[in-house]
Amino acid sequence: MRRSSLPHRETLDHLARLYAASDDPWDHRTSPYEAGKYAATLDAIGHGPFKAALEIGCGNGTLARRLADRCDRLTVMDCIPAAIRSARQVLDPLPQVTVLQGCAPQDLPDLRPDLVLLSEVLYFLTPKEITGLGGWLRARATGPVIAVNWTGPTDEALDGPRAVAILQNVLGPSDSTVHDGFRIDRFALPA
Ligand SMILES: C[S@@+](CC[C@H](N)C(=O)[O-])C[C@H]1O[C@@H](n2cnc3c(N)ncnc32)[C@H](O)[C@@H]1O
Repeated sequence: MRRSSLPHRETLDHLARLYAASDDPWDHRTSPYEAGKYAATLDAIGHGPFKAALEIGCGNGTLARRLADRCDRLTVMDCIPAAIRSARQVLDPLPQVTVLQGCAPQDLPDLRPDLVLLSEVLYFLTPKEITGLGGWLRARATGPVIAVNWTGPTDEALDGPRAVAILQNVLGPSDSTVHDGFRIDRFALPA
């Protein structure tokens, strides 16, 4: 069993192997479950428009493509180069979207986002990284932070509920909506 003290390098290698095997490792483009989760996520986000939204852990850009229509500016980032290549294929044609390669929290961009989307990404981070991310969000975010997490077991050291609890320790309580298999947590940050 993995321990939370394992180095982050192991998670990055695990993610890189998943993307080497498929450019859609979690069937984001085709799964009805993902489509339903995306609809619930966009409902929780609202229509915007957002002036400077940020998605951390954008994967192949499937959700970001749907979010982009609600944003004047959308910055997305992912730590895996193969994910970024796939994301660029769908997002580069959209002039309001910027695609960045980098790891949260260490490579977070110089932004003051009015929406931050953390969809199925928190449990890939270590507790220390989630705490660092929370500090960055508290200092920088001027609007809601939406965290979407599978509630079952993961292949990572953390599961979704435990990862959210760590973020709550930094940001305070969230409004939580529980769905079949996943939960959406909305943290209201001051403008
Ligand atoms: C399960 S996918 C979710 C993709 C997308 N957010 C969605 O919900 O459809 C998680 C993504 O987060 C990325 N990721 C994991 N840890 C990260 C980190 N510390 N910084 C940036 N991206 C990360 C992974 O490479 C992967 O592409």
